[in-house]
Amino acid sequence: MLNNKIHQYPTQLEAAEAVAKLIIKSVSKDNIFNLAISGGSTPKLLFELLAKNYADKIAWKNVKIFWVDERCVPPTNNESNFKMTNEAMLKDILIPQENIFRMKGENNPTNEAKRYQQVLNDNLPLKNGKPYFDLILLGMGDDGHTASIFPDNLALLDEENTTAVATHPTSGQQRITLTGSVIRNAENIAFLITGESKMETLQQIINENKPFAEGYPTYHILKNTKAEIYTDNDLIR
Ligand code: 6PG
Repeated sequence: MLNNKIHQYPTQLEAAEAVAKLIIKSVSKDNIFNLAISGGSTPKLLFELLAKNYADKIAWKNVKIFWVDERCVPPTNNESNFKMTNEAMLKDILIPQENIFRMKGENNPTNEAKRYQQVLNDNLPLKNGKPYFDLILLGMGDDGHTASIFPDNLALLDEENTTAVATHPTSGQQRITLTGSVIRNAENIAFLITGESKMETLQQIINENKPFAEGYPTYHILKNTKAEIYTDNDLIR
């Protein structure tokens, strides 16, 4: 049984509220806060809450926003994680443009992974010789992937480069992703995992069910860190 802390709520909204409050509590008025965010559909509600209900509770000038992963499409494409985040939150908050470090999905993926690795090196403090985030927000796909580390490429969990090019196993879409080595190096990691469709995989992960759990990238990040889970799933320990 994994011993990561689980914050369980009756609804998706309450789980997102809890992560919003974690961010509010963590960002101080005096220090830079380096945050990496995920995309997909789950964090949209969180971003909308931050922009609509809590915008004045956060010193946005102190927050630097990086991405955990990005789909290799232009920022105008509906698949773009940047586009979703911009529409749900960034366009409505007073954050300096220079605090936003977008992964450029429109660039050649290999070049962009290298460029973004340099962006991390140039803009983040180092710990254990690697870029160090104050908080990384992760999600989980129904197949147990997190960031764009998919079950068919577990090697990205231990990749020494801090960024990589990944390929979605079914659609073939290319992605830029942070790798396990920089994710594990973060001060705090929060997984926001909501919706029925994730329940079975998450339960298997929490229970370390063999042989399934080991095939899920999310399991390995949880097992090797103090990452906490925020969910609306009724998980049984
Ligand atoms: C992405 C994400 C990804 C996400 C999971 C969950 O670009 O898809 O950043 O890693 O966290 O796929 O996605 P959903 O929230 O859409 O289920």
